[in-house]
Amino acid sequence: MSETLLTQDIEGVRTLTFNRPEKKNAFTHAMYEAATEALLRAGLDATVRVVMLTGAGGTFTAGNDIGDFLEQPPTGEDSAVFRFLRALVNFDKPVVAAVDGAAVGIGTTMLLHCDYVVATERARFVMPFINLGVCAEGASSLLVPRNAGMALASELLMFGDPFDAATAQRAGFVTRVVPDAQLQEVASERARTLASKPVEALKVTKRLLREPLRAEVNATLRREGAEFLKRLNSDEAREAFIAFMSRKK
Ligand code: COA
Repeated sequence: MSETLLTQDIEGVRTLTFNRPEKKNAFTHAMYEAATEALLRAGLDATVRVVMLTGAGGTFTAGNDIGDFLEQPPTGEDSAVFRFLRALVNFDKPVVAAVDGAAVGIGTTMLLHCDYVVATERARFVMPFINLGVCAEGASSLLVPRNAGMALASELLMFGDPFDAATAQRAGFVTRVVPDAQLQEVASERARTLASKPVEALKVTKRLLREPLRAEVNATLRREGAEFLKRLNSDEAREAFIAFMSRKK
């Protein structure tokens, strides 16, 4: 367990909580590494039947730490962010996500790889890549058009505007939208229910659902990753990152 990724086990459900609330749970290298390690460990631990992802302090996550993008950008496929995405995409047990507040960038795209996503009515989603001078990641360029249709996918990825929980549900990121106060109760109940199902049958079911697209998802991660790395070094991206880091409130 690390300070920025909390772990809790209850009745076969391992909850991983992104815990950097003063920075809206923005992901640092250390957080990606801790989350990757936690998924790999959960995959091997027979007492863990379901993983739940959530964020502390009323935010899911503000996505990649923009200061990190400037100071220590990922450099290749083995970088922490890409290792995390691969660990999630290839995780073979059910993943539930409980989303409140902002889910930005990878905070939205990671939901494409979760099996059941509960979001509050006040949750806000955004894939702001275009406005940061970067591009789609997390296999969103493959899965969002499939789930949401090309028209909505193009709108979400080409304008990069925030969208609400109802739109996130329509676009296939979210399974169920609940009143703000019910998030923990509903997400925990769904996770516990999954944890009570026959464990091997559940694994097979997840594999059958995900396997037909897995090779394409992994190929898309590589294609997007290569473009994303190039974009990170562009003037467009550096200007956008510096503007965010030096903005006045
Ligand atoms: N990277 C680095 N720092 C971040 C961050 C990020 N992705 N997201 C938020 N923070 C920091 C802010 O700079 C601020 O730090 P400060 O208090 O030292 O100034 C703190 O977290 C709180 O954020 P703030 O913007 O004041 O909160 P808010 O409630 O007004 O807005 C967000 C929350 C998430 C909507 C907003 O912070 C945001 O848009 N963040 C950028 C998200 C982003 O573009 N991520 C990259 C995706 S590829």
